[in-house]
Amino acid sequence: MPLFRKKEKERVLPRHIAIIMDGNGRWAKKRSLPRSAGHAAGSKNFKDIARYCNKIGLEYLTVYAFSTENWKRPQEEVNNIMNILRDYLKDAKNFKDENIKVKFIGNLEPLDEDIKELIADAESESENATGLHLNIALNYGGRDEITNAVKRIIKEGLSAEDITEETISERLYTAGQPDPDYIIRPSGEYRLSNYLIWQAAYAEYWFSDVLWPDFKPAHLEKALDEYNRRNRRFGGI
Ligand code: FPP
Repeated sequence: MPLFRKKEKERVLPRHIAIIMDGNGRWAKKRSLPRSAGHAAGSKNFKDIARYCNKIGLEYLTVYAFSTENWKRPQEEVNNIMNILRDYLKDAKNFKDENIKVKFIGNLEPLDEDIKELIADAESESENATGLHLNIALNYGGRDEITNAVKRIIKEGLSAEDITEETISERLYTAGQPDPDYIIRPSGEYRLSNYLIWQAAYAEYWFSDVLWPDFKPAHLEKALDEYNRRNRRFGGI
């Protein structure tokens, strides 16, 4: 027995991390590449980070892939992002081999039929995975999500006195999941951009100037170290 045993670094891992994958366009511009190259690099990085989160035992990761406002982008760019998504979904290995349980959150209704089918396949194929729960926010908007929850409550005929915070939470896309503990936004922007606005009520935030395609596991580790220095009081003292 050695006299001294180096104590393994003890740290608390957030249960749920949510990331805004921002800065793909600027990453491409810096390299005089088309924006599509930025999204391709961003998508590759997304896969690496999801794999890393799975490896370290994170329970939930939510990434913002396409917002309800992103339809305003040029049609070519929208098509490009949808094609990246198609390629990702077609590669079933992404979920099966890695034991990652994937779920899409957002209003999937306006998406092309083939994408909807690929999503349904990906979700059912990974249904029994026991590793990371990966939420991909697609055509997602926090206000849209809350509006839909209210519509459902009204359609279900609930009366005002029956409505609690849980009534709303249970009708969001993330029903049954823990709220995000930590929201990470790279690329030097300091906004939530309609992302998980209900669920983020008590989240901690971490911002960085690094553009998403350059955001590596080492940056995530730095963010996790910082999380461990935070003192979360949830409104208490
Ligand atoms: C924001 O960067 C990024 C997006 C709106 C798209 C993100 C999409 C991906 C990374 C691909 C997703 C793919 C899968 C498989 C989930 P920006 O374009 O707004 O960058 P900018 O602010 O520098 O212009």
